[in-house]
Amino acid sequence: MTTNKSSNGQLKNESQSTRLFYDPNSLSSFNGYRIVHTHFDLNIDFNTNILDVEPLNNELCEFLLKSNDTEKLLSFQVDIERESLIIKINDLSKDSIISIIIYYSTSNTKCTALQWLTKEQTADRKYPYMFSQCQAIHARSLYPCQDTPGVKSTFTAKITCPKPLTVLMSGLQTKYDENTNTFYFEQKQAIPSYLIAIAVGQLVSYDLSPCIRVWTEPSMIKQCQYEFEDAEIFLTAAEQLLGEYQWKRYDFLVLPPSFPYGGMENPCMNFLTPTLLAGDRSLISTIVHEMTHSWTGNLVTNENWEHFWLNEGFTSFIEAKILGNLDKTNGKEVRRFHAAQQWEDLKTSIDTWGPTHPYTCLVYRLNNIDPDDAYSSVQYYKGAALLWHLEQNIVGSESNFDEFLRSYIIKFGRKILNTDDFIQYFESYFPQVPSVDWQSWLYTPGMPPITHDFSTQLEQQCRQLATQQSSITKEQMNMLNAKQVAYLLNLLLNNQQSKINYDYIKQLDINCDMSKYSNCEIRFRWYQLCIRVKYEKPLDDIFKFLEIIG
Ligand code: BES
Ligand code: ZN
Repeated sequence: MTTNKSSNGQLKNESQSTRLFYDPNSLSSFNGYRIVHTHFDLNIDFNTNILDVEPLNNELCEFLLKSNDTEKLLSFQVDIERESLIIKINDLSKDSIISIIIYYSTSNTKCTALQWLTKEQTADRKYPYMFSQCQAIHARSLYPCQDTPGVKSTFTAKITCPKPLTVLMSGLQTKYDENTNTFYFEQKQAIPSYLIAIAVGQLVSYDLSPCIRVWTEPSMIKQCQYEFEDAEIFLTAAEQLLGEYQWKRYDFLVLPPSFPYGGMENPCMNFLTPTLLAGDRSLISTIVHEMTHSWTGNLVTNENWEHFWLNEGFTSFIEAKILGNLDKTNGKEVRRFHAAQQWEDLKTSIDTWGPTHPYTCLVYRLNNIDPDDAYSSVQYYKGAALLWHLEQNIVGSESNFDEFLRSYIIKFGRKILNTDDFIQYFESYFPQVPSVDWQSWLYTPGMPPITHDFSTQLEQQCRQLATQQSSITKEQMNMLNAKQVAYLLNLLLNNQQSKINYDYIKQLDINCDMSKYSNCEIRFRWYQLCIRVKYEKPLDDIFKFLEIIG
């Protein structure tokens, strides 16, 4: 991506903004000055090779910037070694707001935030495609910013791309210029840099409701229409639990399969993997999850990635709650069964790290560590398990805990927080409840100190099959829905008995024809089992899966 003009950052000094904080993963001086607004003026170029901040060189240059109406000369410096842009602001008074114009282009080799796809790499194979993924610390490779979740700012944008492609961003579209194929955006809510998102491709859309629109390549739009038809029902359920939706529109983009996550909560425009298009609406929990981030994550935000569980643990916990609330007849069971799946995923994840690994703590240190390297399900589902413990064992009332969640969102909405802030707020909100063993839950590796009982009929049915002596028959398997099959495979993955060996897996495949499952959550778990016992029959499928799916 090249700028034909600029990125225009406004910096504001600390006293006007929020408190001082710590972030081991940010390189910016966020405790001195805060960016309050960014304007992007960008041109998307699918042809040229792009150079990295090329015109600036490694010299100390001077440039003009405006400070409270008086024009002053300030200096800046590009440090090629550390790849940092240093702006020296010397004689500014405490509350001044300044504007800076930066001409830059992204690097085509080092911009880790962007994936550029050739037309062959898209579903429709007609046009190239580009999309971003900034979380956790890739925003710095996309534009000059303060790359920390602790600084929130607004943005506006003017983006031009070749016809007939469409640009989408994590904000609201305000204008479109047909002559130049230029798209204008605005995000009036202050957001951290990791929520900046952009995608460009041949895209079409379908309105699922007056404020919900799904975007995707033309060949997938029909499937999207079916799979996500209930999106508005989900949003209403989320609002009932969490309070009013604050982002005006809830649109989402279903990307090509190389999108590296299940979903990403980019505000006003969630990004989702096309693997959710299972054809049976069995994977809607992911859209519920990303939607939920509109409150936990995007309104209430972890101050740095060491407290990632405040984003993901809360969101996973609430996701299960909403799935339960959506089912009017069997809600309690549905919620518990979803929580059971999260618990088994947690087991698999802790098993993979090893039970004493520091990344199996809910809160861990990230000095000199890329958050992506520490990323796993642990902060999601150990976090969700802690909140389950607080709700069920400590507070003991679901409705009181729901009330607490709403007040937590009001208290910390549009702000940042860390784990201590959460504990303090919880303890002041519930002064009478039994004390919590925070030390074990937060700072001790391995499985949680308390094992929850998530058993339900749905769960028992799977557990019985996982533990029976004889092999699982086709008839037994066909009794299970897609979520139960995925859960059963998790039970087998976590089964410590030696019976999960080559012969067992082979027999399971012969009986149940496991290759018939196209559901990615099932395939992903089945392939792990096959690899574990070196059952090679699905090897070609595994390679294809790895080649295609991000
Ligand atoms: N925000 C995450 C994705 C993410 C986390 C990207 C950290 C980069 C760094 C998103 O909300 C998420 O959790 N996605 C999950 C799906 C969810 C249903 C558990 C995923 O992609 O697996
Ligand atoms: Zn998430």
